[in-house]
Amino acid sequence: MPLPYTGAITAFLNDAAPAPIRRAIEEHDKKDILSDTYPYDRRMPGSDYDPQMEALQLELVKLQSHLKATGERVVIVFEGRDAAGKGGTIKRLRENLNPRVANVVALGTPSDTEAGQWYFQRYVHHLPTSGQMAIYDRSWYNRAVVEHVFGFCTPAQRAQFFRQVPDFERMLVDDGIHLFKIWLNVGRAEQLRRFLKRERDPLKQWKLSRIDVEGLGKWDAYTDAISETFEKTHTDVAPWTVVRSDDKKRARLAAIRSILSQLDYDGKSPDAACPPDPAIAGGPDIWDA
Ligand code: ADP
Ligand code: MLT
Repeated sequence: MPLPYTGAITAFLNDAAPAPIRRAIEEHDKKDILSDTYPYDRRMPGSDYDPQMEALQLELVKLQSHLKATGERVVIVFEGRDAAGKGGTIKRLRENLNPRVANVVALGTPSDTEAGQWYFQRYVHHLPTSGQMAIYDRSWYNRAVVEHVFGFCTPAQRAQFFRQVPDFERMLVDDGIHLFKIWLNVGRAEQLRRFLKRERDPLKQWKLSRIDVEGLGKWDAYTDAISETFEKTHTDVAPWTVVRSDDKKRARLAAIRSILSQLDYDGKSPDAACPPDPAIAGGPDIWDA
């Protein structure tokens, strides 16, 4: 039985997508070009990616031992538009780790009880204890972007969020937590390609939500909300790493490297855990709406 949003993506492509996006999907697909602004012409081949990812998996296992031995804590926040690749990147990140050490925190819509609490409270509940890593698949930044774009919070609540978040994050870092904030940056044509694939795949259709479908027409509102988020929350203590994610393989390597290259752990291989490709990962200045 088709799920409620099946067909909505194709309908958007045919009826409502801006002409350049429609053209990009039709023409660029033939040439395998991701977008006009993407720094590479082709997606990274598996033969190039696989050995690098394998080496990074080994580094993550070393990091896990280090956390266990030292009790250090890591928090990684993954943000990005729908279909930016958060889930896939997180999957690679924790593939070989003990799920009790590397917890994924993917919270749903707040319950009535949660809605009555301090906004950060339900996220705080999942912060790591010693030796653990908490990986947030979406985070407190919901208030800055999706809740704002869909009107799920008031302007006053969002303003309060922006006032509180630098102090909140400073407290985490001050308490010794290694905090990483990663923004996966997907272009509009690539996002639509991924949604079209999702729509056609019976194993993935369930992932299409009302937010995804209605969000298609809200690209510019998202752009404004994201730009404001970087302005207000890219701090010295808790900076954003922006990762261009049109090519999933390059994005996964860069995201994992952006974390590992900033941590010290026993047996670290500086070759594998090198700084990420600067054409793929950087500060908000590389963000490309
Ligand atoms: P995901 O992309 O995580 O699979 P969706 O695209 O369905 O999920 O929703 C995006 C985000 O919007 C989720 O974090 C969800 O909790 C949030 N969200 C959806 N509805 C509401 C709501 N009524 N109030 C607050 N947040 C909401
Ligand atoms: C992503 O791909 O960014 C998320 O994991 C899935 C989604 O967009 O719903």
